[in-house]
Amino acid sequence: MSIPVAILISGGGSNMVRLVESMTGDHPGRACLVLSNDPAAGGLQKAREMGIATAAVDHRAFKGDREGFEKALISEIDRAGAQVICLAGFMRILTPLFIGHYAGRMLNIHPSLLPKYRGLDTHARALAAGDSEAGCTVHEVTAELDDGPILGQAVVPIRPGDTPEALAARVQVREHELYPLVLRRFLSGERERIFLN
Ligand code: GAR
Repeated sequence: MSIPVAILISGGGSNMVRLVESMTGDHPGRACLVLSNDPAAGGLQKAREMGIATAAVDHRAFKGDREGFEKALISEIDRAGAQVICLAGFMRILTPLFIGHYAGRMLNIHPSLLPKYRGLDTHARALAAGDSEAGCTVHEVTAELDDGPILGQAVVPIRPGDTPEALAARVQVREHELYPLVLRRFLSGERERIFLN
């Protein structure tokens, strides 16, 4: 029996596509739902084209009631039977209500080498700091923002003249390698960190 995985997105869903594509054959997981807080998220259409069930819970309808929004998300996720949650460019801050419900079974991808640059604008901050390398991290989600045990990281060299956009594009290439690899290992019970150079 494969493990049903829900993937939460807010935008174009390029990481989501890679995760869905990876879950075939002898992979321990299968995508059971792609869920967005934005009904217009481009990734929802891509998921439908791949034959994956989709849903949207528009956070704006909850007018700041974060827990009400999260209860609606939980209801969609649990109705789909998901056992593991992958946040893949899901741009809403989650409260302990949601995080506690999926404790130990929720992953996130973040576009920096955590613990550096939690939050937003990670690439601009790495460039402003004069860093020589950037990258991405997949970690377990805990109550602190962009915290939680690190499961994998990929390093991307910063080049002279890099812009945040150019760096983001190169980091995304590595995100697409790292996230499927970490998810497969996680679903197989593997918790040791991996590093891609
Ligand atoms: C990804 O680069 C991911 O690292 C980032 O959003 C992008 C989503 O792209 N996540 C965060 O910034 C989370 N704080 P995608 O929709 O094409 O996968």
